Amino acid sequence: MPCTVVVGAFWGDEGKGKIISYLAVRDKIDVCVRTGSVNAAHTVVFKNKKFALHMVPSTFVYEKSRLLIGAGVNVHVAQLLKEIEETGVRDRIGVDPQCSIIEDKHSAIDKSSAHLKGLGTTGWGVGPAQEERVRRTGKLARDVPELQQYLTDVSLEANAAIANDKNVLLEGTQGLMLSLFFGTYPYVTSRDTSASAVCAEAGVGPTKVDSVLLVLKSFMTRVGAGSLPQELSKDEAVRRGWFEIAAGTGRERRSAPFNFDIAKRAAMINSATEAVLTKLDILFPECNGVTSFEQLCGEAKEFIAKVETETGVSVSLIGTGPSVFDVIDRR
Ligand code: IMP
Ligand code: MG
Repeated sequence: MPCTVVVGAFWGDEGKGKIISYLAVRDKIDVCVRTGSVNAAHTVVFKNKKFALHMVPSTFVYEKSRLLIGAGVNVHVAQLLKEIEETGVRDRIGVDPQCSIIEDKHSAIDKSSAHLKGLGTTGWGVGPAQEERVRRTGKLARDVPELQQYLTDVSLEANAAIANDKNVLLEGTQGLMLSLFFGTYPYVTSRDTSASAVCAEAGVGPTKVDSVLLVLKSFMTRVGAGSLPQELSKDEAVRRGWFEIAAGTGRERRSAPFNFDIAKRAAMINSATEAVLTKLDILFPECNGVTSFEQLCGEAKEFIAKVETETGVSVSLIGTGPSVFDVIDRR
């Protein structure tokens, strides 16, 4: 699997962090490039400890993995330094000098703007930081004294690793329905979240990519404002066991049943080569912790088959619980 891109199909929170941490250990991911910004939290449960990573790549659980932050990223310096300490990765993390920097003023604008509040942003200030970057008045990682020791040419490292047949993973954040281009505008984030954009933020061209893993959750969730087809009431979500609280912001997530049209469109726009279905155990509790396909109940197998026919891609990984190894690997 030399170069793999992992992206979300819905509104983020599909379980990308958990799947990426599984791939890190199982496939020995030599290099991981994280994209996006601090608004996204990737949850990794490893050795009974829960991490909500806003900046550090989710492959940190594999101790040989080189962790990189691509030039397209908006870096929150304090959050990055805090996570470097928590994960103990100081000697193997690198930041591109051209990353832009989110400052306190960006978060202040995000939180005080009536328009942005109406969209239900995370409040981290990513939109205002992007605006400043586009205006070409932004501060870059190369200007920040605390980051000097981590600076590296990320695109050069990633492309050299691919050329040397290393396993490289490009870590997408959020989901296609939050894309500035393809999502539910204006109720979207401030960047494109598709596989192509992930490559661009990392500095890797499309011909270098071998596989695109589309992460689909077995039901859909959304935080913030904007449409959510067939949204359930909170009571119904709780009854079904679908009610979630956001890892990053602590906000309540809205929920709805899996939507095959959205999944199909996400497979197309991302040119997905494989799909990953997460949280199958929430839909079918009897599947919790199962690691072989044969042990799944008939209904779960039918659901997976329908996902495959509707999206046109095979479901190669299935999440059956929160821990890194609660996975059915059909590859
Ligand atoms: P912003 O990205 O903070 O500007 O927020 C814009 C919209 O994207 C809001 O609806 C947020 O809740 C949503 N959003 C941003 N990042 C994530 C994420 O990582 N997971 C889920 N929703 C997100
Ligand atoms: Mg999340």
